[in-house]
Amino acid sequence: MAPRKLAAGNWKMNGTLASLAEVEALAEAHPAPSCDVLICPPATLIHALASRIAGRGIKVGGQDCHASHSGAHTGDLAASQLADVGASHVILGHSERRADHGETSGAIAAKARAAHEAGLVAIICLGETEAERDAGQTLDVIAGQLAASLPEGATAANTVIAYEPVWAIGTGRTPSSEQIAEVHALLRADLSKTLADGADISLLYGGSVKPSNAAGIFAIPHVNGALVGGASLKAADFGPIVAALSAA
Ligand code: 13P
Repeated sequence: MAPRKLAAGNWKMNGTLASLAEVEALAEAHPAPSCDVLICPPATLIHALASRIAGRGIKVGGQDCHASHSGAHTGDLAASQLADVGASHVILGHSERRADHGETSGAIAAKARAAHEAGLVAIICLGETEAERDAGQTLDVIAGQLAASLPEGATAANTVIAYEPVWAIGTGRTPSSEQIAEVHALLRADLSKTLADGADISLLYGGSVKPSNAAGIFAIPHVNGALVGGASLKAADFGPIVAALSAA
């Protein structure tokens, strides 16, 4: 099996019920893309979105989950609760959660294990800061985060890895093609060494992906899709990114 192509939208803390019309417009404009399409809205919208686009080929995911399946954790959500309302995926270890909530790679591995037990695909995010890149530490940082964030039992069927340089998120800046290629080659080599089917794990790039740069990014070796923030909120922006991945 080759890695599956995935165009994933991370809405972060954006969107209300009215925003779901954008996903319907996306489904209408791109009825049969030759890649997987996923929208991860705020948790408040997962059930409504899953109900509205059921059977139209677009998957729905969460943006975080707890490592436990239930209990006294006010404000948190279990992976099984996300699955219960229609999620198939969950983003874990996004740099905004690592920064805002102090999430460590070990905590992310525990959450990924819970996601797998609930039948969800875990999208595990990794990325260096600008200071780490400037200090020449990018490959060491990424290899370290990968080793510590990947849970036992990870397979190409239940895990996706997203490389998101922190300095490229929401800034309009992207790494060069060579810089993305270098990190994705490292991820592929490490995963192939560690996991029996590591060659088949989907590797996403994220950070200022736009309609204008998507095709170039999808042409880079070992880039199997994108994790898109701002440009996933509007069908007019995300649609061309889905089309570029379909054509890649
Ligand atoms: P932007 O596409 O807005 O840069 O965000 C990327 C991101 O963080 C996706 O998870």
